[in-house]
Amino acid sequence: MIAILDFGSQYTKLIAKNIRESNVYCEVLPHTTSLSDIKDKNYKGIILSGGPSSVFENNSPRCDKNIYDSNIPILGICYGMQLLALELGGEVIKGDKHEYGHSNFYIDNNFDLFEGLWLEMSIWMSHGDKVVRMPEGFQRLGHTENCPIASMGNKEKKIFGIQFHPEVTHTHKGKDLINNFILNICKCKAEWTPKSFINSSLNNIQREVDNSRVLCALSGGVDSTTVAALLKKAIGKNLTCVFIDQGFMRKNEGERIKELFTKFFKIDLIYVDARQRFFDKIKGVTDPEEKRKKIGEEFIRVFEEKAEELNSEYPYLAQGTLYPDVIESAGNKDVSLAATTIKSHHNVGGLPKDIKFKIIEPLNKLFKDEVRKVGLELDIPEELIFRQPFPGPGLAIRIIGEVTPDRVRVLQDADAIVTDVIKKRGLYRSIWQAFAVLLPIKSVGVQGDKRTYSHVVAIRAVTSEDAMTAKVAELPYDVLNEISTRIINEVLDINRVVFDISSKPPATIEWE
Ligand code: XMP
Repeated sequence: MIAILDFGSQYTKLIAKNIRESNVYCEVLPHTTSLSDIKDKNYKGIILSGGPSSVFENNSPRCDKNIYDSNIPILGICYGMQLLALELGGEVIKGDKHEYGHSNFYIDNNFDLFEGLWLEMSIWMSHGDKVVRMPEGFQRLGHTENCPIASMGNKEKKIFGIQFHPEVTHTHKGKDLINNFILNICKCKAEWTPKSFINSSLNNIQREVDNSRVLCALSGGVDSTTVAALLKKAIGKNLTCVFIDQGFMRKNEGERIKELFTKFFKIDLIYVDARQRFFDKIKGVTDPEEKRKKIGEEFIRVFEEKAEELNSEYPYLAQGTLYPDVIESAGNKDVSLAATTIKSHHNVGGLPKDIKFKIIEPLNKLFKDEVRKVGLELDIPEELIFRQPFPGPGLAIRIIGEVTPDRVRVLQDADAIVTDVIKKRGLYRSIWQAFAVLLPIKSVGVQGDKRTYSHVVAIRAVTSEDAMTAKVAELPYDVLNEISTRIINEVLDINRVVFDISSKPPATIEWE
C-alpha cells in the first residue's frame, strides 16, 4: 500500500481515489507521520500531497526528514515537490506570479514516471512558488513555459517531484503517471478489489468481535445497509439491527426497510416506532435550526433508551462511518480551515458520544463509491445502492413551517410521484437529488369548476459531485409537466407546483 502524507491540499482525497481505482490500497496520513510508523505498516511508497502553505511561511508544514533516506520511493506533488527541493538542498523561490489552471508540460525524460506518456501533456497547475535549482543527484524531467523545472527526479533514490496535479481530471493522462509511480516504481500489485476488501474485513471483524453480539444502527441508506450486510456475513445470527422510525421517512420507507432486512437479508431487526415522540418533540417548531437540533437530540434519546435495554447483551455497536469523515477529523489542524456551520447535520453517525458500546466501523477506510462497489459485491439490490442521498432529519426539513402528520402525508405522496417520474424517464442516476418541498403557503386554484385554496409544492432537482456545490438539473419541460400534472391530480390538497432554479451556492440543496 501507499502512504499519502497530507499537507492540506483540497485534492488529497482525489490522489487517494485515483490510486485505489487502480486497485492499490492507500491511506491518507498526517504529514507528521514518522518514518518508523511508515515502516511498521510496510508502505511501499510515499506521496507528499500539495497544500495551501508556502515553504517560506513560518512553521510551514514539514514531514519526518528520515523518509528521504529510507529507500522508500517518494513522489512530491506541488507543495510536496517544493518541500523535497528545499529539504534536499535545492532552491525554491517565491513566484512573482501565480500559475493556476491549464498549462502545457513538456517531458524532457520519458522514463520511469513519464514512461509511455506523450512528450507534450496538458496539465493542471496551482502554485506560486517554484523550484529554480534541483538538489544534487536530481535531473529535470519536464518543464512548462513559466516553470523551467516542473518535474525532477533522482532515479537512484527513487525520489520524484511534479509541480502540477496529476490527480485532477484536467491533467491529461495524470492517472497513467500515478500508475507509473505506484506500479512500476513502488512495485505495488494491483490486487485491492471489493472482494479482497470484503475478505480481509470479514477476518478483522471475526477476530475483533469473536462470539459477542453486535448491534447495528440502520438509516436505510447505502452505508449502514452495507455495514449490516458485511456483519451478517461475518457473524451471522450474532447481528441485530435497530431502525428508528422518526415519522419523517419517504412514503412506505419503514415497511420497505422491515421487508428488506427481515425477508431479504434475514437479519433480526428491532423496529422502533418513535413517530409520535418526534411529532410531539417538534410540535409548533418552525425555525429550521431548532427543528434540526430537536430531531437530532430526540434521535439520541431514543437510541440511548434502546441501547440501555440492550447493552448487556450487545457489547458492540457498528456504524457506517466513511473514510472522508475520518480524514477530516484526523486532518492537519494547522492547515485545515474551520468550516462555518451552515446547518446542523444529523444522521445515524451522530450517536451519543458517551455511549457504553465498543464501536466498530468496518467502512471507515472507504470512499462512498467504494462502499457502493462493496455493497454490490455483497448482493445488496442495485436499487438501494444507487439511491439518492436522504437527510437524517428526513422530510421534516422539506416541510417549511410546522411539521404535522397530515403535512408529512401530503409531502410523502408528492415526493413519491417525483421519484416515480424521474425513474421512469431514466433520469434517476444522473441526478444527485430530486425531491419535493412543501411550502408554508396556500394559493388559489380552480379544479372541476370549483375554487380551491391549497398547498404549494416546490420541486428541487440538482446535479452535483459531492453536495458541496450543486447545479439545477435541467429537467425537460415535459418531465416537469408530467410531475406537476400528476401531483396536482393525485395529491389531494395540492393545487400548484413550482420549480426551484437556484444553484448551490448561494442556495443550499435542502430548503432548511
Ligand atoms: P445542503 O442542504 O447542506 O445539503 O446543501 C447537502 C447534502 O447533505 C444532505 N443533508 C444531510 N444529510 N444529515 C444527513 O445525513 C443531515 O442532517 C443533512 N442535511 C442535509 C442533503 O440532502 C444534501 O445531499
